[in-house]
Amino acid sequence: MKLVFATNNKHKLQEVKEIVGNRVEVLSLKDINCYDDIPETGSTLEENALIKARWISEKYNCNCFADDTGLEVEVLDGAPGVYSARYAGEECNPEANMHKLLQNLTGKTNRAAQFRTVIALIINGEEHLFDGVVKGNISTEKMGEAGFGYDPIFIPQGYNLSFAQMTSEAKNSISHRYRATEKLSKYLKENYD
Ligand code: IMP
Repeated sequence: MKLVFATNNKHKLQEVKEIVGNRVEVLSLKDINCYDDIPETGSTLEENALIKARWISEKYNCNCFADDTGLEVEVLDGAPGVYSARYAGEECNPEANMHKLLQNLTGKTNRAAQFRTVIALIINGEEHLFDGVVKGNISTEKMGEAGFGYDPIFIPQGYNLSFAQMTSEAKNSISHRYRATEKLSKYLKENYD
């Protein structure tokens, strides 16, 4: 079976391919010659994932899935959430985003947060949503160099290390995206094997 993943992010593509295995051929947007800048105008992760998946499925008439991720901080009522990439402005600068979040949490003792990924799958005209969550805390300063995005300031529950101090294998074995992709993979196995 072929499935288009509405992304050109090589890391995400690799991670997803490893989880779903050989049963499914996962294609990127580049593989189908799609260079569209798909507008992410939704106000929830679910809406944005569906917008991207519907765009591809309607334009290219194919089975596909799309994801959207947010970092949800408890004392900020779930912010930055769906706006995580653009928290400090449209430039989507991870350093500026982390700086703004640390500033907004100055003096706060409750630093609980979670990463949440939503995957929207459109297959044979049916829509399905899968989510994955990893709970943790926001550190008081950046720790570590690995990973991307908010990794240096996110400490997963049960660890003393930030995501940026963990190996990619360790992070990927507990991450929000891993957990959502596992659900997608299980669904495909149960229904399309
Ligand atoms: P996207 O939906 O994957 O594009 O992610 C939205 C925002 O969350 C971006 O600012 C990413 O940098 C951030 N983000 C997504 N996944 C991760 C992660 O695994 N670690 C750190 N930041 C992430």
